Amino acid sequence: MFDKKIYMARRAKLRQALKGGLVFFPGNPEVPCNYAGNTYPFRQDSNFLYFFGLQTPDMFGLIDLDADKDYLYADDLTMDDIIWMGHLPSVADMAAEAGISETAPVNDLKELLHKAVLSRRKIHYVAPYNMQVAQKMAEWMSVPVGKLKEDQSVELIKAISAQRSIKSKEELAEIEEAMDIAYKMHTLAMRMCKPGTYEYQVSGAIEGVALQHHGSMSFLPIVSMNGQTLHNHHHGNMLKEGRLMVVDAGAETHNHYCSDITRTTPVGGKFTTRQKEIYEIVLKANTTVIETLKPGLPYRDYHLSACKVIAQGLKDLGLMKGDVEQAVQEGAHALFMPHGLGHMMGLDVHDMENMGENLFGYDDEIRRSDQFGLSYLRLGRRLQPGFVLTDEPGIYFIPALIDQWKSKEKFTQYIDYGKVEAYKDFGGIRIEDDILITEKGCKVLGQPIPKTVAEVEEACLKA
Ligand code: GLY
Ligand code: MN
Ligand code: MN
Repeated sequence: MFDKKIYMARRAKLRQALKGGLVFFPGNPEVPCNYAGNTYPFRQDSNFLYFFGLQTPDMFGLIDLDADKDYLYADDLTMDDIIWMGHLPSVADMAAEAGISETAPVNDLKELLHKAVLSRRKIHYVAPYNMQVAQKMAEWMSVPVGKLKEDQSVELIKAISAQRSIKSKEELAEIEEAMDIAYKMHTLAMRMCKPGTYEYQVSGAIEGVALQHHGSMSFLPIVSMNGQTLHNHHHGNMLKEGRLMVVDAGAETHNHYCSDITRTTPVGGKFTTRQKEIYEIVLKANTTVIETLKPGLPYRDYHLSACKVIAQGLKDLGLMKGDVEQAVQEGAHALFMPHGLGHMMGLDVHDMENMGENLFGYDDEIRRSDQFGLSYLRLGRRLQPGFVLTDEPGIYFIPALIDQWKSKEKFTQYIDYGKVEAYKDFGGIRIEDDILITEKGCKVLGQPIPKTVAEVEEACLKA
């Protein structure tokens, strides 16, 4: 964790942004995998990590806005805990690391919340995503589980997202560390991208890289010859010459900051002409965004400019036709790029997604679209220095979607379905970088990971 002063300053800033009452931050419990004693790897809640930094399960943070005091509630270990899990510092010692001097057992928190509810004190919280946490919150605050979301504090969410959206230098150093690990993961995947290798061998090897760096994966990796399935977690195929392997994978550092990188590699290390043609369009969409990114403009505009590059490139190949501007405005390109250009990244790979993207990715000025494709854009609002986001355009040939649009004669003025038919066995291509918005422009984070056709082909050749 960082120095305690960082957590104290973050909490002080949050206190200033909120009016009164209590702010409740439940940390995460261990989550059973197949029985209570066999758990998934423990992952602390990101808001708890941001304001309290501690990585121990079953801790609860509380900020009393009226008394201007912070508290940590947790139970000290029993002898049984010590026998099975070893010694941990006392709750008071752990709290001190986060700059907190007030600690108490969890039962005291239950009483305090109960009294707060009876006296109608405001309790700010973010709706939980974990059922065990939801059950506790519902019981302790006398709210039905189904009403927790409705009663969450929008004021708190906005205050947290204002803070977490702007990455500090310590956070950027962590993200750079996650990028270093991602570099190793992706260059290894390129070297392994050979006919006869199974997707799970690549996926297992890159996960090993993250683990060997005292980290973990920032999300379930996507390692697939079927890149047209956007989040494909099936890793059972043997790689075949003539196909592409999409690897969308990132690392999480020991302190839980993320990277999220996608590279697409030809199996056997050499792009075919057809693959190269599509790859160059996706690459141009990715680099056009990087060349123009700066604070001030809505990220939605960059999404649309990447989509125009894609539509123009596909028009040049004869797969699309007609007026490119109009085609993108009407959403015809979404047959090939049905997802958003990117998202915020930080302590979560999709940063703060648990708080609802509409509350931090959009605002009163930029509202989320309901148009197919654009509606999946997680970040639409104007960019500010300190944002870290992804730039991840792609082109996909999704047979079921092509068949559906074709049968409905959708956008026949913009799409040449006869030509598209021939690409139904193509798969997909995505290229993803992680980017910091600076005062005047942007910076691609991490050391450059092979990305051009020549760089990827060369990386495949390395022993
Ligand atoms: N990890 C999925 C994505 O790139 O957003
Ligand atoms: Mn990704
Ligand atoms: Mn991403």
